Amino acid sequence: MLPGAWLPGACLLLLARLARPCPAGCDCFAREVFCSDEELAAVPRDIPPGATDIVFVETAFTAVGARAFGGSPNLTKVVFLNTQLSRLEPDAFGGLPGLRDLEVTGSAFSSLSADIFSHLASLGKLTLNFNRLEALPEDLFRHVDALQSLQLQGNLLPTLPARLFQPLARLETLNLAQNQLAQLPDELFAPLGSLQTLQLSNNALSRLPPRLFAGLGRLRELFLDGNGISELPPAVFSQLFRLEKLWLQRNALGHLPPSVFSSLGSLTFLNLQGNALRVLPAGLFAHSPGLSGLSLSHNQLETVSEGAFSGLSNLSSLTLSHNAIARLPAGVFRGLTELVKLNLGSNNLTALHADLFQNLTKLELLSLSRNLLATLPPGIFDTNYNLFNLALHGNPWQCDCHLAYLSRWLRQYSDRLFNIQTYCAGPAYLKGQVVPALKEEQLVCPVTRDRVGYQAPGPEDREPGDSWDLVAEDRAARKRCTYSNPEGTVVLACDDAQCRWLNVQLSPRQGSGSPGMTFNAAQGWELKSSCGSVRVTVSIEARTGDP
Ligand SMILES: *[C@@H]1O[C@H](CO)[C@@H](O)[C@H](O)[C@H]1NC(C)=O
Ligand SMILES: *[C@@H]1O[C@H](CO)[C@@H](O)[C@H](O)[C@H]1NC(C)=O
Ligand SMILES: *[C@@H]1O[C@H](CO)[C@@H](O)[C@H](O)[C@H]1NC(C)=O
Ligand SMILES: *[C@@H]1O[C@H](CO)[C@@H](O)[C@H](O)[C@H]1NC(C)=O
Repeated sequence: MLPGAWLPGACLLLLARLARPCPAGCDCFAREVFCSDEELAAVPRDIPPGATDIVFVETAFTAVGARAFGGSPNLTKVVFLNTQLSRLEPDAFGGLPGLRDLEVTGSAFSSLSADIFSHLASLGKLTLNFNRLEALPEDLFRHVDALQSLQLQGNLLPTLPARLFQPLARLETLNLAQNQLAQLPDELFAPLGSLQTLQLSNNALSRLPPRLFAGLGRLRELFLDGNGISELPPAVFSQLFRLEKLWLQRNALGHLPPSVFSSLGSLTFLNLQGNALRVLPAGLFAHSPGLSGLSLSHNQLETVSEGAFSGLSNLSSLTLSHNAIARLPAGVFRGLTELVKLNLGSNNLTALHADLFQNLTKLELLSLSRNLLATLPPGIFDTNYNLFNLALHGNPWQCDCHLAYLSRWLRQYSDRLFNIQTYCAGPAYLKGQVVPALKEEQLVCPVTRDRVGYQAPGPEDREPGDSWDLVAEDRAARKRCTYSNPEGTVVLACDDAQCRWLNVQLSPRQGSGSPGMTFNAAQGWELKSSCGSVRVTVSIEARTGDP
């Protein structure tokens, strides 16, 4: 670009500045004024008449005097961000009848006089976040009845006066998060008939007055997370007919009244993570059929009753991880046809019923990690056509014939395992092997009363009705025998054509007393299977110093 090309623009800018003077320490734009000079001693008196918004950022003056903006009646928005303000004189915002948006965030004042907002009849949004407010006068909002949004997050409020919100019938959003609220007057929120979002996260509430939320018939979102709530009054949510999202995580709930959610017919999301729940009362969610996200992780559930989630036909995400669940009834997930995500990780599950996930055709993500599972029943994922992310790590997998279904499923859908670090805990000679890398003929079972030698899963083992998906070719090659000695230290797997796999356990394990083989020896065994027996001789020579 030619050097001269930008000069006319610069001259125009200069002219514009001359034509519309801007207070020292501020920058003026069409309708906005930004003041961020630490030298600024007070709110400037010469705000351009056309300005509607003024923003102070990190300024150093500490007080706003009476009617400081009185010469600029057209201002609609006044903002102080991270300034040194510690005092707002009475009537500081007098003379601003059109002010709609007032924000003082990140300042040091700890109290407000009762009439500070008294002439702000147009104020729709008031933000007083992250100051040091310790108390509010009961009449503070007496003349701001147009208010729709009130933000008081991050102050030091321990409680609030009972009639504080009396004039705020039009309020839609109220944020009281991150204060020190330990007690709230009964019916504090009763006048807020238009309220849609109420945030009480991260306070110190341990009990809720029974009628605290009475009258909030329009409320859609209620945040109660991060308090110390140990008990919920049975009817505390009974008028929240339109509530859609309820955050109760990180509290101290040890039990729930059976009907506590029974009026929440519009509920779609409920978070109960990080409480101390041991049981879920029957029918707890029966009146919230539209629930689509439910988290119960980090509780102390030991089981979940058969009907706990019945009727939740819209549920798409269910999180039950980090509990102490040892057992799940076969039908606990029945009817959850929309379920996409199911987290059962970090529990004490030792076995799963073969029908547990039946007909969960939309299931995509399933975590069974960090449980006590040694095996999975055949067919368990047969109807989970969309399952593409399966977490199995952190279980003591017993890599024997019972794991053949899982092994085959993993081989068929090799890309679906979330964490490949899924290891065998037994038998001894497969300990530490990676489950998805195992060959099917390695998955053999020990001698039982009915079986001679080790037995690999073959077609003859199928239960009628088992529906393993074998291609015809695979089926033909299936005439397979796995021979072993009675101790299981020598295992040989063969099919019609050849023997493909031999496992010899070498030195006996300490104290196990099982006869293993020693080096520099030849040894023969009579190995048996249901197909008959074979004789095998193995010689092993170990030479020192020979690469
Ligand atoms: C306020 O705005 C009106 C209409 O936009 C304008 O006529 C008037 O001059 C402004 N007043 C001041 C004090 O700037
Ligand atoms: C389930 O979700 C669908 C689609 O979001 C919605 O139309 C339907 O009303 C919901 N069902 C219930 C019982 O809320
Ligand atoms: C769950 O398993 C852990 C670890 O194995 C154990 O410490 C805990 O006692 C078990 N909890 C229950 C309720 O069985
Ligand atoms: C799964 O669906 C089939 C066919 O609709 C049905 O017979 C079976 O009972 C269902 N199983 C479960 C556990 O819902």
